[in-house]
Amino acid sequence: MSPLLEVSDLVKTYPVKRNMLGRVRERAVVTDHVSFTVERGETLGIVGESGAGKSTVGRLVLRLIEPDSGSVMFEGRDVLGLSRKELLAFRQRAQMIFQDPFSSLDPHMTIRDAVGEPLSIHRGLKRAERDAEVTALLERVGLRSDQLDKYPREFSGGQLQRIAIARALTTEPDFIVCDEPVAALDVSIQAQVLNLLIDLQRERGLAYVFVSHDLSLVRFLAHRVAVMQNGVIVESGPTEQVFTDPQHPYTKKLLDAIPDPRAHFLARRAESGFGRAVPMTAGSVKES
Ligand SMILES: Nc1ncnc2c1ncn2[C@@H]1O[C@H](COP(=O)(O)OP(=O)(O)O)[C@@H](O)[C@H]1O
Ligand SMILES: [Mg+2]
Repeated sequence: MSPLLEVSDLVKTYPVKRNMLGRVRERAVVTDHVSFTVERGETLGIVGESGAGKSTVGRLVLRLIEPDSGSVMFEGRDVLGLSRKELLAFRQRAQMIFQDPFSSLDPHMTIRDAVGEPLSIHRGLKRAERDAEVTALLERVGLRSDQLDKYPREFSGGQLQRIAIARALTTEPDFIVCDEPVAALDVSIQAQVLNLLIDLQRERGLAYVFVSHDLSLVRFLAHRVAVMQNGVIVESGPTEQVFTDPQHPYTKKLLDAIPDPRAHFLARRAESGFGRAVPMTAGSVKES
């Protein structure tokens, strides 16, 4: 069976210099022949410093931006060749969660409407069905039903990220790109949101590409890791292998630079197998 997602040789450049006539004289290479796969139910962590090209990869995969060259296959289908209509269908199966949940929510919409909207648009649910599903989804991510008629400004960052997760789940996706989803949250809240993502993965067999500059977070929840430097994946492999036996000098440098005391805590939890859900492969689910 083909992987859920197969990315091959993605190249994305942006113009950086133009001549007097506006012709592009030089282009910056932001992703340079990036390739990886993601299996059903699996988390691939993409780590690297700011500017490495991680967010660009996430957006290319969902075809929010177009690559210069390369291919993205989802369930064996060519995402870059999809028609407009097929692309809309693909975007239900493949969702994205951003660092700043506030900017991804309409400030004038209640949470009930924000989460209900995709249910009406994509699944054509009637009001009562829609309300029932919104309530169930928001309760699932940890909000109380008496909070549903509030507006985004009335929630904390952690609650907003839970709401954004609920909204992403409305289309019953198989795959979510999580782009630094807890980077803006207090450390004490980060673990709660990460644990929610892990629980949802177990329940729904979700696959994640989890983009982060924070190696300890990636160690906590990724099954495999790709290390990105200046647009290039310099090393990839099973998480524990990359963390305990890094091969590339850049990976070693990143690991040596982890300043965060949480690293030890999270690493211990990761070693005990606490964090990661077991990926689902070809119909078999194993529990460790
Ligand atoms: N729309 C754009 N136009 C020009 N350059 C861009 C654009 N988007 C991203 N870049 C450049 O691409 C590089 C990688 O950006 P990004 O993917 O956001 O990195 P990361 O998420 O790893 O911090 C950066 O140098 C950034 O300036
Ligand atoms: Mg980024």
